[in-house]
Amino acid sequence: MEKIAIIGTGFVGVVTAAGLADLGHTVIGVDIDEAKIDRLRSGHVPFSEPKLEPLVRKGLYSGRLSFTAELNHALIDTTYIIVAVPTPPDKDGASDLSFVHAAIDAISAHPQQEVVIIVKSTVPVGCFKTLQARLDANDKRASLVSCPEFLAEGQAVSDFFSPSRTVVGANQAGVAERVAELFEGLPGARLICSNAETAQLIKYESNKQLAMRVASINDTAARCEAFGADVHEVAKGMGMDPRIGEHFLRAGIGYGGSCFSKDLAALTYTARMAGLPTGLLDAVAEQNEQQLRRVVAKIREMITPGQKVAVFGLAFKPLTSDVRSSRAIAVVQALMGDYTVIATDPVAAGDEARILLPGVELTDNPWRAAKGAHCAAFLTAWDEYRQISLELLQLQMARPAIFDGPGIFDPNKVVKAGFRYSGIGRPSRSPLA
Ligand code: UDX
Repeated sequence: MEKIAIIGTGFVGVVTAAGLADLGHTVIGVDIDEAKIDRLRSGHVPFSEPKLEPLVRKGLYSGRLSFTAELNHALIDTTYIIVAVPTPPDKDGASDLSFVHAAIDAISAHPQQEVVIIVKSTVPVGCFKTLQARLDANDKRASLVSCPEFLAEGQAVSDFFSPSRTVVGANQAGVAERVAELFEGLPGARLICSNAETAQLIKYESNKQLAMRVASINDTAARCEAFGADVHEVAKGMGMDPRIGEHFLRAGIGYGGSCFSKDLAALTYTARMAGLPTGLLDAVAEQNEQQLRRVVAKIREMITPGQKVAVFGLAFKPLTSDVRSSRAIAVVQALMGDYTVIATDPVAAGDEARILLPGVELTDNPWRAAKGAHCAAFLTAWDEYRQISLELLQLQMARPAIFDGPGIFDPNKVVKAGFRYSGIGRPSRSPLA
């Protein structure tokens, strides 16, 4: 077992720290945000992620997991340092590596001898050359390793303990294999040891492939509407081909979240800088923007200006409170000028959403949102919405109209309950007069 420091206690850093501690390592999570560190020290995770808080508390009680704002303290006698800081997009889509550079410089300044720097942050393919130059300029003996994360929000703890694969890339011989040993306790994880650039591209191209599948099924949905097909049945029929598979073929309001758009933009920027074609990448991003416009247009045709629309769901996907790059937030932003919008979400109707939606009433109570609404626009596929009583909903609303973005309802049941139904990839329907 090893002593490991993890710089950055966001979603990836905390899951990785608690997971490695559970495997038996001694792990110190480091962050510049002292308030966040204090909360983590007391066993509180400052975001909603199933199973994570108990795992953090287990690590704290065992003494194998701790948190500090003092990086120098964390680096004492520490060989393995995981960098899990944000790499946000700048205005032209390039990854802003300032947090990564700050971590590298802080590590360089520490007297700790030979270290292995494991970059878990998603960084542009080929950037290790500049990171290595920074280390060399500081005469720091360090090996750089790319170890991308494949954690999906809402299931991140399960993804850590049952990874579909562990990817480790390094350009010095034997280093990737050494780092792979840190994750040895994970059952059956298929291991890929490669050079750094291969590991980085596995991460980017995986997210491109997933985003492309979402864009593709949303592209299919438009033709389903035009020709009277049901996109859910089309997806089912497609998914029966083992070469296509059933996953990631759910039509909806478009992909959101802090990864797909950011990683696609970074991949496009890197390709463009290398003089490579970006047509496919551009088409995926454009389809996702087109999907947003189609969703807004569909809701607009169900109501008239000044009427009230109740939006159900703000998180970018269920089981998370994360509203970063949420398509639901973007839909509300497009509607809030012309309509009275009230938005509800079980966990994401908080401060971050309030900052993004000034003047929009937010509530975690769906019945309060529904009261007097002329349209109920379901945007996030929360399970509690799938089971909502349509009869009670109709009693609350001023007019029975449902927009079903994620396809969580059976259109026939909705129409039978007296609602007008509009969705994605399914023909709009109205109750028989
Ligand atoms: C993603 C990758 O899945 C994960 O492997 C990577 O490490 C980080 O990025 P995440 O962003 O948490 O994870 O969410 P994901 O479950 O991939 O969904 C991304 C977006 O696509 C969400 O807005 C989701 O609603 C949407 N989506 C997903 C669809 O619209 N249809 C689908 O079939 C699947």
